[in-house]
Amino acid sequence: MTTAEPAGGPAAVVTGAASGIGQAITISLVDAGWRVVGFDLPGRSFDAGASVDWVGVDVSDADALERRFADAVATHGPISLLCNNAGIEGPTVPIVELALADFDCVMAINLRAAFVLTRAALAHMGANSGGAIVNVASIGGLRASDGVPAYVVSKHALVGLTRAAAREAPRAGVRVNAVCPGPIDTSMMATIEAGLDPADPSGNRRNREGRIPMRRYGRADEVAATVLWLASDAASFVNGACIVIDGGSTA
Ligand code: NAI
Repeated sequence: MTTAEPAGGPAAVVTGAASGIGQAITISLVDAGWRVVGFDLPGRSFDAGASVDWVGVDVSDADALERRFADAVATHGPISLLCNNAGIEGPTVPIVELALADFDCVMAINLRAAFVLTRAALAHMGANSGGAIVNVASIGGLRASDGVPAYVVSKHALVGLTRAAAREAPRAGVRVNAVCPGPIDTSMMATIEAGLDPADPSGNRRNREGRIPMRRYGRADEVAATVLWLASDAASFVNGACIVIDGGSTA
C-alpha cells in the first residue's frame, strides 16, 4: 500500500475504483472532501491526486481482500463508507454453455467480495462511529436480461445481500443500500455489446438505447451522484433501498 498524503475528511473504500463507474464515484467523493482507498486489480489506477490511496488487490481473493481492508483501517483510521462496485459481466453465453469455473469467477467478484467486505465493514463501523455501505448492483439484479446469466444471478444475490445486511446494520450504526443502474456508458457495456453481437456492436447499442425511454445510456457520474447521496446524511433514513438509475427502462 502506498501512503496517501494525510488529509481531512472521512475515508471511503471503493472497489473497482480505477475505471468506469468506480472512477466517477472516486472523483465525486474526492470533490466532496472524502479520502478514498481505491481497491482495484494490481497496476490499475488513475491520477486522482493525494486524496486517493491505490491498493492493488484481486477482490476474488477473500483472504487478501480482508487483509487489505484491515490495512486500510490501520492507515486511514475509521472507514465511513464502503462502496462495493467492482464487477465483471462474465461470459455472454446461455446457461447451457456456461462453464462452472466462469460462474464461480463471476460470483466471487460480484458477490462474494461484497460479502467479505460487508462483514469486515460492519464489524469495523460498529466498533467506531458507524457509516454507510453502498453496493453497485444493476437492473439485472431486479429482473433478468438475456445473455449474461451468471451476471444476473450475481446481481440478484447482491440485492439480497443488501437487504439482509440492511436488517442488521442499524445495530452497528450503518445503513446499507444499493444502486441498480441500467446501461451506463463504460467499457463493460461495450464488451457486452461486442459479446452478444460481434458483427454489429453499435447496432446492439442502438437497439438498447431505443428501448430506454430517455433514448440514451446513462453516464457514470449520474450513478456516482446517487452513491454520494446515499453516503450522506441527506439519506439518513434510507436503508435497504435498491435505487434504480435506468432512464425509465424498467418503469
Ligand atoms: P468497468 O469494467 O469500467 O469497471 C470495473 C472495474 O472493476 C475496473 O476498474 C476493473 O479493473 C475492476 N475489477 C474487475 N475485476 C476485479 C477484481 N477481480 N478485483 C479488483 N477489481 C476488479 O465497469 P463499470 O461499468 O464501471 O462497472 C462497475 C460496476 O457497475 C460493476 O459492478 C457493474 O456490474 C455495475 N454496473 C454497470 C453497468 C453498466 O452498464 N456499465 C450497469 C449496471 C451495473
